[in-house]
Amino acid sequence: MTRAVRHFLDLPDIPAETLKEILASAHRMKREKFEPPQLFYGMSLAMVFDKKSTRTRMSFEVAMKQLGGHTIVMSADDMHLTGAESIEDTSKVLSRYVDAAMFRISSHETLLEIARHSAIPIINGLTNHSHPCQIMADLVTIEEKLGSVQGKKIAWFGDYNNVARTFAQASKIWDFELVAAVPADLAPAKSDGIKITQDATSAATNADVIVTDTWVSMGQEGKAIEKFLPFQVNPSLMAKAKPGAIFMHCMPIHRGEEVTDSVLATKASVIYDEAENRLHAQKAVLAWCLEGTGVKVL
Ligand code: CP
Ligand code: NVA
Repeated sequence: MTRAVRHFLDLPDIPAETLKEILASAHRMKREKFEPPQLFYGMSLAMVFDKKSTRTRMSFEVAMKQLGGHTIVMSADDMHLTGAESIEDTSKVLSRYVDAAMFRISSHETLLEIARHSAIPIINGLTNHSHPCQIMADLVTIEEKLGSVQGKKIAWFGDYNNVARTFAQASKIWDFELVAAVPADLAPAKSDGIKITQDATSAATNADVIVTDTWVSMGQEGKAIEKFLPFQVNPSLMAKAKPGAIFMHCMPIHRGEEVTDSVLATKASVIYDEAENRLHAQKAVLAWCLEGTGVKVL
């Protein structure tokens, strides 16, 4: 029987138990400094970007290399993907060269179409719709700082964007409360099953985790930011959260906009652990995607 290709496109596509196993695996890999160079020996990961990246690119590259594999990094503009060639042809050809491919590509629909035609695992490295690899790393971070994510109150501030939407998906899977304090005109048409408010203070009150992201996501340059000012994470907002609450941000940060330096300088800020955890989460995601194609770790 042929095994279904294991894409990592959006959290709700994957059984909750599997996602929890991937997370447990990421914790174990971090704890054990998991770097067996034979795991991905002879395997290649293609990475295609139509937007900038520091963490996603570096963490996937280091993950593959520590586990003995190779990476090929391409700008989408340098490929025929953005030209005359069909998405189907691009996807089928890639499947003949590499073992898995990660795409950071604006259009979620294009990502889904690539996956539909692909014989190898396709990983979502951020689209305008979602950023599941980021949320896997964020959950590793919350679990290591606060013990468990289940039942926690996570408060999101600012734009309701790809990262916020993925947090909303995760809240259903890991059973935590997500409150998003966002400008009224940016509230999602369907509430995505979470609490949406314009009252930043009430959102922060008794929160275990305070989280924000840039007000201007990549591709939205020139957007006005005034409406986001009431949602800035600053010391008075942090003071409403539970004692011991943590501050998170997927980075890159626009200091003085969505969060002040004074918050980033406190012990509550776990941003660098969160960034490091991209590496451990990426290893676990790659191992799951490639399991059965000669890889066995989970
Ligand atoms: N958080 C994140 O995805 O960062 P990069 O844009 O640097 O990859
Ligand atoms: N929401 C941000 C996340 C960057 C990692 C963006 O899409 O630019």
